[in-house]
Amino acid sequence: MRPASSSELLKIVRAAERNNLALALTGTLLFDKSRFVQVLEGERSSVTKLFIRISQDSRHEDIASSTLLLSGASLTGRWR
Ligand SMILES: Cc1cc2nc3c(=O)[nH]c(=O)nc-3n(C[C@H](O)[C@H](O)[C@H](O)COP(=O)(O)O)c2cc1C
Repeated sequence: MRPASSSELLKIVRAAERNNLALALTGTLLFDKSRFVQVLEGERSSVTKLFIRISQDSRHEDIASSTLLLSGASLTGRWR
């Protein structure tokens, strides 16, 4: 992703606050001015649905996905 302005960042954070809770997803978003690393945790179908939406975001120039499946465990919050 190109360097993000603080207003762009705020929009992403607001969208995450709004939508991730509704999808019962938890996670972490790391940002270093041009790159994001995001961990999304929850039901596989909800994670996949959100990942597809984020992948289609025109603010992305490139996106890669690595998947780590942890059953019944959460790195960042309560999940199951
Ligand atoms: C790096 C990056 C991470 C994002 N992470 C999330 C996220 O965790 N949750 C989310 O709903 N949207 C996230 N978005 C924004 C989505 O691509 C999309 O704009 C948003 O979900 C639309 O939500 P809305 O229809 O409620 O406006 C992210 C976008 C980028 C560029």
